[in-house]
Amino acid sequence: MNKAEVKPLSSAYRLLNPGSVVLVSVGDGTRDNLFPVTWNTPVRQDPPMVAIVSGKRHFSYPLIVERGEFGLNVLQASLVDAVLGCGSTSGRDVEDKFARFGLTREKAGIIRPPLVEEAVASLECRVCQVVDLGSSAILVAQVVRALASTEHFREGQWRFDSGLELLHHLSGSRFCVTVSEITGRKPG
Ligand SMILES: Cc1cc2nc3c(=O)[nH]c(=O)nc-3n(C[C@H](O)[C@H](O)[C@H](O)COP(=O)(O)O)c2cc1C
Repeated sequence: MNKAEVKPLSSAYRLLNPGSVVLVSVGDGTRDNLFPVTWNTPVRQDPPMVAIVSGKRHFSYPLIVERGEFGLNVLQASLVDAVLGCGSTSGRDVEDKFARFGLTREKAGIIRPPLVEEAVASLECRVCQVVDLGSSAILVAQVVRALASTEHFREGQWRFDSGLELLHHLSGSRFCVTVSEITGRKPG
């Protein structure tokens, strides 16, 4: 997929604004892994920061906190089965989720974990704070680089004029899709 760097990076939060489910990519070049995260959000525009909630028992969790880096990969609806696959299996049992679920590694520009080539956008993130919630944690991270499809993310905005279908998680195996935008009218 043709992608370009998102600049200024302070507009990278818009990649996550629709609340899409993301595939988090982790690893250090020798062992990597993927898991979907519904609970993700931008938290700061400049410097750009995001937060995800991760269960501490996930195979991926120590890979994130030890290395301090992860990728957030925004996917289109066509990859729903890969999302469910990555979220229904553990890296403890599946050595290579990329191969198992038909995804391609893309070398990141700054962080060590690979990105997902099929993703419509990817954010490269460095952990700056871990908020312990017991069995899970909020990982707050700075976005150090972002890439997005030149076809679907133009002039700092998602564009739905050429078939973009952003994927959102409802619960279990249920998802919904964003395919268009509307413009609201401000009062006065
Ligand atoms: C659609 C979907 C969304 C998920 N969202 C989250 C989430 O927001 N946070 C989380 O910790 N786990 C979430 N999970 C669960 C993990 O992705 C799942 O336990 C995964 O298998 C962990 O992989 P790992 O053990 O290889 O790291 C989600 C699972 C699915 C299927």
